[in-house]
Amino acid sequence: MCARPKRAPFAVSTTAQVLGFLRGADGYISGQMISEKLGLSRVAIWKHVKTLQAQGCHIETCRHRGYHLIGVPDMPTEEAVVAQLQTRALGRPLLFFREVDSTNRQLAKRATDSAEGLTLVADHQTAGRGRMGRAWFSPAGANVYLSVLLRPAVSLAQIPTLPLVVGCVVASTLENMAPRLPVKLKWPNDLHIHGKKLSGILCELTAETDGVQQVIVGIGLNVNLNRGQLPRAIHQSATSLRIETRRAYSRAEVVAEILNQLEPAYHRWCAEGLKPFLPQLATLDLLKGRATRVEQTGRQAVEGIADGIGEDGTLQLRQPDGSHLFICSGDAHVIPPAAE
Ligand code: BTN
Repeated sequence: MCARPKRAPFAVSTTAQVLGFLRGADGYISGQMISEKLGLSRVAIWKHVKTLQAQGCHIETCRHRGYHLIGVPDMPTEEAVVAQLQTRALGRPLLFFREVDSTNRQLAKRATDSAEGLTLVADHQTAGRGRMGRAWFSPAGANVYLSVLLRPAVSLAQIPTLPLVVGCVVASTLENMAPRLPVKLKWPNDLHIHGKKLSGILCELTAETDGVQQVIVGIGLNVNLNRGQLPRAIHQSATSLRIETRRAYSRAEVVAEILNQLEPAYHRWCAEGLKPFLPQLATLDLLKGRATRVEQTGRQAVEGIADGIGEDGTLQLRQPDGSHLFICSGDAHVIPPAAE
């Protein structure tokens, strides 16, 4: 068991619970009914309905019939995500912000006294962070920017394999939402479709002498971005779910689905390490069998034929003499075939 329990289980805000009742109703539901279920006054319920309307929910009110939920905006708010969560810890609680500098950074600020599972989601990041000091393009109204606090009781040596597990989870989520999408994972943790990147993962570890204190898992996923919104620098190299499938997706559903899948995968990883994920990784592996170059900070780049991912998360690069290099970290690229 990874969680160090310190929580009231299933922490959900009252506004989210009110939205849950509205979603579950077949048409109108009376304020009286909701107030009895939640043990609150009808005025309190009305205030929560006002909050939901301010967040863009279309709710009709009728004096003698109550409230009727017509539609919810595509905003991954706490209310919208939590209504679809099946987790015990992840996303509980879930904090939603219209704008932050970086969800990883904001979660780190709140992590000290928080239990595992605290999650932060934003509509817009003004300083989204990528791996190796890069920026992550994070416009409003289009994508998922999500950070989750984990406190795994595992050895430090196991931590580098976590991003690969998260990559498997995001890939499965994408495959569920858009079946037949040819999702690939580029070691160590980029997700690609047709050679273009649509998701990146940034895991930030805090360790103490006695081991892992916390890991913040940050996931950026291009969901409803249009091609025209992509800046020049990543126009050729990036894509989104919408660009690939020509339809829009509910970001709240994407966030809930990632968390629903991440929780059991995370517990399995805590108990068994990367081994159970190796078959999925082998299927997703974008680099397998391809001439690959890996840039490593402060070291010379290495090249070889990618020969799979090991149980310790290393990328195995076959050398011309048949031996292997085992690469722990870096930025991998397929070497384009030389022009004739
Ligand atoms: C990469 O591929 O370089 C990793 C990108 C990770 C981006 C996500 S968006 C949510 C979270 N907050 C951040 O500032 N970064 C991660």
